[in-house]
Amino acid sequence: MTVKIDTLLHESRRFAPTPEFAAQTAATPDLYTDAQKDPATFWADQARNLLHWHKPFTKTLDWTNPPFAKWFEDGELNVAYNCLDRHVLAGNGDRVALYFEGEPGDSRSYTYAELTTEVKKAANVLLGLGVTAGDRVAVYLPMIPEAVISMLAVARIGAVHSVIFGGFSAESLRSRIDDANAVLVITADGGYRKGKISALKPAVDAALQSNDSSVKNVLVVKRTGQDVQWNDRDVWWSDAMETASPEHEAESFPAENPLFILYTSGTTGAPKGILHTSGGYLTQNAFTHQNVFDLKPETDVYWCTADVGWITGHSYVVYGPLANGATQVLYEGTPDSPHTGRWWEIIEKYKVSILYTAPTAIRTFMKLGRQIPQKFDLSSLRVLGSVGEPINPEAWMWYREVIGSNLTPIVDTWWQTETGSIMVSALAGLTETKPGAAQVPVPGITIDVLDDDGQHVGHGNGGLLVVTQPWPAMLRGIWGDPERFKETYWDKFEGTTGAKDGPLYFAGDGARLDHDGDIWLLGRVDDVMNVSGHRLSTAEIESSLVAHSLTAEAAVVGAADETTGQAVVAFVVIKFSQAEIASHEDIVGILRAHVAQQIGAIARPRDIYIVDELPKTRSGKIMRRLLRDAAEGRDVGDVTTLADTMVMNTITSQMKK
Ligand code: WTA
Repeated sequence: MTVKIDTLLHESRRFAPTPEFAAQTAATPDLYTDAQKDPATFWADQARNLLHWHKPFTKTLDWTNPPFAKWFEDGELNVAYNCLDRHVLAGNGDRVALYFEGEPGDSRSYTYAELTTEVKKAANVLLGLGVTAGDRVAVYLPMIPEAVISMLAVARIGAVHSVIFGGFSAESLRSRIDDANAVLVITADGGYRKGKISALKPAVDAALQSNDSSVKNVLVVKRTGQDVQWNDRDVWWSDAMETASPEHEAESFPAENPLFILYTSGTTGAPKGILHTSGGYLTQNAFTHQNVFDLKPETDVYWCTADVGWITGHSYVVYGPLANGATQVLYEGTPDSPHTGRWWEIIEKYKVSILYTAPTAIRTFMKLGRQIPQKFDLSSLRVLGSVGEPINPEAWMWYREVIGSNLTPIVDTWWQTETGSIMVSALAGLTETKPGAAQVPVPGITIDVLDDDGQHVGHGNGGLLVVTQPWPAMLRGIWGDPERFKETYWDKFEGTTGAKDGPLYFAGDGARLDHDGDIWLLGRVDDVMNVSGHRLSTAEIESSLVAHSLTAEAAVVGAADETTGQAVVAFVVIKFSQAEIASHEDIVGILRAHVAQQIGAIARPRDIYIVDELPKTRSGKIMRRLLRDAAEGRDVGDVTTLADTMVMNTITSQMKK
């Protein structure tokens, strides 16, 4: 395990919420004591308080067939109704739900009443295209209101969305469409990114070119107005919406009705379709969104900068905030377009009070310097959040001092695509925070840190982070692959003493308990990288590299990177037959472009080293640990298990070329 929290032992700074802040927060310490007494009953209370049930549930948790949990099983609800209609019925129809800010500077807003009408119309459009409950709909859109409207419309009719990040390539899109057998794709002509128009529709056309997929129609939002190729299956969003009825009554669906599939990287093989269902997912997201951020729906303006293509965008742009009736900002573009103060300008413009973002963004701003945010009025901010990777104490302090006027609580929230919701975090109004620590499990969640034998490591020690009890927003499986679900998350501690009271969910992360028992995340212990807060698997990028005709073998590692957390670094062996054909420089260029095309620009290696051989054990396993040492410029570690102990010398000398 790579353990890199140098300042851990010296970190003695503590930041309690100010007395004024603590006095106005709705969260009370009772949350912890109530939850501890009986987590299931606690969650049942939350589900009843926070959501509208068309049919109330009588059963809370069924854990008789682990790891397949059922929450609130006999209850029925409509997720979109919970996020929309009920706020309008409660008299809050005029409250702004979304302030949309396009990258070119265009803006529009939707009240809850307006958003409800749009979603009702979109639901009718989907029904008109033959989409029915249980069908899968792929959503491949920029960060525009139509993305939120699409997701909610799919949910409203009991169908299942699979949002695919707009940065993914045609091939990635196709494999996800096939895995889920999607019947419809919702896309746009393009979007605005980094001051330019970036096309989306051509990737959909390429993905569906062979005409042999499950997709019957493609619904196309006009965002940029650029030329698009038009096929028989294509329908303009605006045409369909114009004639769609604004009347649609939300039907209720069982709490365990699938809500969405979201693909995420694993250590091996193809991306996994993580499956989430309705009632439990919405309960935990509404609860955490309210209590972690101390949300006041009447007065706060909340902004989560994540794209809807990732889990953070699902849980903390769409479902949590809208279930709570929050007002939020939705921004299409990148932080530096058209200028490096864009985010701070947006905060000033909308008087954002809660900001939720990723350490990679904070580190980028740190590099650019505090003079940029200091030009803007950020005094509306009262809570700051962080997610996606460990936040180093320096970045945490900068975030608090420069963005938070040295006053705002910071909540560092640990969770995953699989957990669906925040699991470990301070509560803004209650917790005394420590820079760099994710701190404590949220009420109702039970976490432990174990050694390989499943023994609790005790305060002051590091080990593997596990969740010891089922939780409402937990993944219900991997789409179409129950065996892989068990193997990946539940087998690690089977048969150990730690698992004697039930199976343990192993998250893949290392963590350390400090002397108070607070949790510090140490990063992934497997071969999954974390680039700008996005999980990428080494295996997937390696497969892409060796799929190219130039490449014989490839090994990919995540190397520490000041800005992106980790960066993709590849070591490739070129086929003998190809070695003389092109210069090293050309090969590197070709392979970088190839990965970007196959997987997406986010996976494009920062560095590619062409080497003669890869370091392997006698059983032929590539020793990525040694390559990581080399990529990070360290002395290479223990090489004794290598089949050829000299190979690392050759590699490091070849890296200098
Ligand atoms: C990492 C994103 C440290 C972790 C919500 C996890 C974090 C993976 C934190 C999940 C945090 C997320 N501190 N590490 N606050 N939040 N991670 O599925 O390694 O995209 O396993 O979900 O990100 O990434 P995912």
